Amino acid sequence: MENIDNVPVHVSIIMDGNGRWAREKGLERTAGHVEGVESVRACTEAAVECGVKYLSLYAFSEENWGRPQDEVDTLMQLMFKSMIGELSNFLDNGIRFMVLGNRTRLGDSLNAAIDDCMSGTAGNSRLTLIVFLSYSGKWDIMQAARRYAEDVLASDPAGRERLLAMGPDGFDGYLVTAGIPDPDLIIRTSGEMRLSNYLLWQGAYSELLFSDVLWPDFRRQEFVDALRTYSKRDRRYGKVK
Ligand code: IPE
Ligand code: IPE
Ligand code: MG
Repeated sequence: MENIDNVPVHVSIIMDGNGRWAREKGLERTAGHVEGVESVRACTEAAVECGVKYLSLYAFSEENWGRPQDEVDTLMQLMFKSMIGELSNFLDNGIRFMVLGNRTRLGDSLNAAIDDCMSGTAGNSRLTLIVFLSYSGKWDIMQAARRYAEDVLASDPAGRERLLAMGPDGFDGYLVTAGIPDPDLIIRTSGEMRLSNYLLWQGAYSELLFSDVLWPDFRRQEFVDALRTYSKRDRRYGKVK
């Protein structure tokens, strides 16, 4: 068991660099995605061991639908296979599994597998593992705003007044992450320093950590090192300490 101070409750990772990892080795991009699944496994185990309560992973953005169809198909198949294959591991280790994103764009068989995995693990509480699939921050804020507007329109005058007086904490409940604490730490691998439309609202006060390591090489040690870096950060939330 690692001895780490101030363990973040919610760690989120933008898993980037699979394609470059494969290219460096003279392999197809797909090989990088396959190897990346091993990093998911390693980081999930490390998160459980370190006492992280929420681990979320940016697996596929809304913009990623614009990649070549065969790469999109491979990624969706990998998602499907991993989910079926990992269910018993989730059950053995007390992991609650969730997929968040624009699920209307996913195929029926993938959606059915997601539903099975989510309902089968819903009672677990050791770690919540969230996969952001077909997700983008702007999409999330828009779907929340749409549902909020619908609620305002459907309310009686008193309800409408209450909704219009609502602050950001109330709006949180309309995002797909309702009930999930905002990420304390967002890690992006592969040296890119951008958010690529990820958790734009929820990441407002997240600590950001950019690692040069490509995702398929980001394993237990890199994860633990990231937690140690986080433990030295001073979060001020705009206040004076
Ligand atoms: C991350 O790796 C996986 C997804 C975005 C689905 P990439 O596929 O983006 O790898 P690079 O950035 O091209 O190396
Ligand atoms: C961000 O990676 C999305 C995921 C990791 C799922 P991309 O590789 O798609 O991002 P850009 O295109 O470099 O910004
Ligand atoms: Mg990339």
